[in-house]
Amino acid sequence: TVPLRDLAAARGIHLGTALAATRLTGTPGSIAARQFDAVTPENEMKWESVEPERGTYDWAAGDAIVAFAKAHGMQVRGHNLVWHSQLPEWLTTGDFSDDELRAVMLKHVTDEVTHYKGRIAAWDVVNEPFTDDGGYRAGLWYRRLGVSYIADAFRAAHAADPAAKLYLNDYGIEGIGPKSDAMYALATSLKQQGVPIDGVGFQAHFALGRVPADFRANLQRFAGLGLDVAVTELDVRMPTPPDAASLRQQADDYDAVLRACLAVARCRGVTVWGFSDATSWVPGAFHGQGAATPYDAHYRPKPAYDAIAAALLAG
Ligand code: G3I
Repeated sequence: TVPLRDLAAARGIHLGTALAATRLTGTPGSIAARQFDAVTPENEMKWESVEPERGTYDWAAGDAIVAFAKAHGMQVRGHNLVWHSQLPEWLTTGDFSDDELRAVMLKHVTDEVTHYKGRIAAWDVVNEPFTDDGGYRAGLWYRRLGVSYIADAFRAAHAADPAAKLYLNDYGIEGIGPKSDAMYALATSLKQQGVPIDGVGFQAHFALGRVPADFRANLQRFAGLGLDVAVTELDVRMPTPPDAASLRQQADDYDAVLRACLAVARCRGVTVWGFSDATSWVPGAFHGQGAATPYDAHYRPKPAYDAIAAALLAG
């Protein structure tokens, strides 16, 4: 059968997967390389991974994923530069003034983007800035620096690698509502200020049967701002063990997401947040749920896999 990445390429989009540096060999590595033409390091480029001690960088795991991608003709989405989560302890417990904290953030963005310069197609520059009601999330950066941390991070990333596409990324913004309206207002304001933003990433961590009917229309409204859009972390969780009806519904959900992206000219691609139920983050985070990816725990394709292929083939 034709690899999914070839079907996606024929439609002008990328098909990506999150991948851990520990899974570049064996069955996971060979499926990733055969089926996907884009990869997002699942944890390896996060701040706590790259700078566990202040001033001591460890790029090894991220570098390994970048090398894997290069060897297999895959692009890399860098994930992520500025987030409230997975920060190193020296940073969250350190006694920094606001000015020092801003300088620390800008140095991190500059150093990481510089390290990977020319090798990252797109960066999630700011990840998950909003709460579900559309307010700014009161994480370290917003609490201490206010909303200006966002524009500052984009400017620093652009200065370090002008060719990389720079994204805002969040979950729960797939349908039109308070949170996506907040993201829309932020993207509008950044564009108006001339901040170097290229796109908005829609994570798309869905519960079964919950792909919003207005996902395509919402992607289109962001594209209307002159921005690229991408589905960056797709999965569809369900109670486990799954039954046949749930797997069929999940296939319909994957189909709906692929079709929404394909229908929007500026949608650059769809990335699944892990392609196998063997390694998905879902069971560790949602009690009694899982089976969220297109391959089962034995790396056998599920109906969702067939749905992705069919959506990519459909006229
Ligand atoms: O590396 C440590 C290991 O040393 C330790 O022994 C082990 C014990 O729990 O934990 C390991 O760290 C785990 C890490 O993944 C690496 O495997 C953390 O506990 C675990 O919390 C962490 O989870 C990641 C999660 O982000 C953290 O927020 C998931 O793998 C990753 O899939 C998930 O990805 C996020 C995106 O970055 C942003 N959007 C949501 C998405 C899903 O939560």
